[in-house]
Amino acid sequence: MSLIKLVNLPSFGDERGGLIAIESDQSIPFQIKRLYYIFGTQSGVSRGFHAHHSLKQIAVCVKGSCRMILDDGQNREQVWLDTPNKGLLIGDLVWREMHDFSDDCVLLVLASEHYDEADYIRDYDEFIRFAYDDTTK
Ligand code: TYD
Repeated sequence: MSLIKLVNLPSFGDERGGLIAIESDQSIPFQIKRLYYIFGTQSGVSRGFHAHHSLKQIAVCVKGSCRMILDDGQNREQVWLDTPNKGLLIGDLVWREMHDFSDDCVLLVLASEHYDEADYIRDYDEFIRFAYDDTTK
C-alpha cells in the first residue's frame, strides 16, 4: 500500500478565480486543532526530518510547490505538492522531509492536535526503532 495518500480538496473556482474549501471531518478525516504555514523558505533549504507518535496532518501547497518525502521505515516515497487542491495526508509514525521549495511556496499544514514537542521524533534511528516496534505488534 502506498504511503502517499492524497486528498482532493473541493474546488469552487470559477471565472473570477480560485476557491478551495476545507472542512473538518469532511475532506479532512479529522478535527483540525491547529494549522500553520511555511513560507519564504530560503533556496536550497529542506525542512521536516521528523515523525510524530500521534498526529495526523494534511499538507497542501496553497501557492508554489515543494517535494515531500514520506518514509515509514520500510518504504520511502515522494510526491510533488504543486496544486492548491492536492492535500497529502500524513499519519502517525511517518518520517517526513520537505525539499525543493519554490521561491513562492506557501505550504499550509492542518493538524489534528495542538503543538507538542514531546510528540516529535527528530532522530531517524530512534524513529526506525519506533516504526519497527509498531510493525511487529
Ligand atoms: P519545526 O517543527 O522544526 O519545523 P519543520 O520540522 O517543519 O522544519 O518547527 C520550527 C519551530 O517552530 C520549533 O521551534 C517549534 C515551533 N513550532 C511551534 O511552536 N508550533 C507549531 O505548530 C510548529 C509546527 C512549530
